[in-house]
Amino acid sequence: MAQIELVVGDITAQDVDVVVNAANSSLLGGGGVDGAIHRKGGPEILADCRKLRAGHYGRGLKTGQAVATTAGRLPANWVVHTVGPVWSAEEDRSALLADCHRTSLRVAADLGARTVAFPAISTGIYRWPVESAAKIALAAVAETLDGTPGITSVRFVLFDKRAHDVFAEAASLLDR
Ligand code: APR
Repeated sequence: MAQIELVVGDITAQDVDVVVNAANSSLLGGGGVDGAIHRKGGPEILADCRKLRAGHYGRGLKTGQAVATTAGRLPANWVVHTVGPVWSAEEDRSALLADCHRTSLRVAADLGARTVAFPAISTGIYRWPVESAAKIALAAVAETLDGTPGITSVRFVLFDKRAHDVFAEAASLLDR
C-alpha cells in the first residue's frame, strides 16, 4: 500500500518525481508555493505554462483541474499545477479541494511518477482553514491511492509545525 508521510519543509526542495503547485487559474505564477516554485524552478516552468495557455488551456486552468509541466531546476522531474478553491463560508467547495488531489495524483500516475509531494493547497492566500483542508486532502489522497497503483509515496510538505500537527491529527483519524 502506498505510504502517506508528513514533513515540515519547503516543497521546492523535495527530491520526488512530482511536486504539486498551488497555482491559480492563469498558470502564470503568483505568491506562496506558486512563487517559490517559479523562483526556484526557473523560467522553463513559466515557458511550459505559457505553451499550455497558448494551446489546450487558452482560458486557463479551472479550479480542481491539474496539468503537468517540467520542474526546471527543481530536484523533482515534473510540477503538477492545480488550482485550489478559495475558502467560502457560504458555499461548500470541499469537493473541488478533493478534486485537486485526485486529479493531481492521476496526472502524476499518467506520467509514470512514483513519489508525489503536495503543499497544503488553498490554506494560504485562499484562506481555507488548515483543519478542514487537512481532512479533505488526506481523505482524497487515501481514497485515490488505492486506484493508482503506480504511486508508492505521497508526501505532504507543511510549511510550519502548526500545519504539520494539524495534518498529523487528521492523519491519525484516517482508517488506513
Ligand atoms: N513550501 C511548502 N509550503 C509552502 C511554501 C513552500 N515553499 N510556501 C508557502 N507554503 C504554504 C503556505 O503556508 C500555505 O499553508 O502552502 C500553503 C498554500 O498557500 P499558498 O501558496 O498561498 O496557496 P493557496 O492558498 O492555494 O493560494 C493560491 O496563491 O500564490 C498564489 O498563485 C497562487 O493565486 C494562487 C494562490
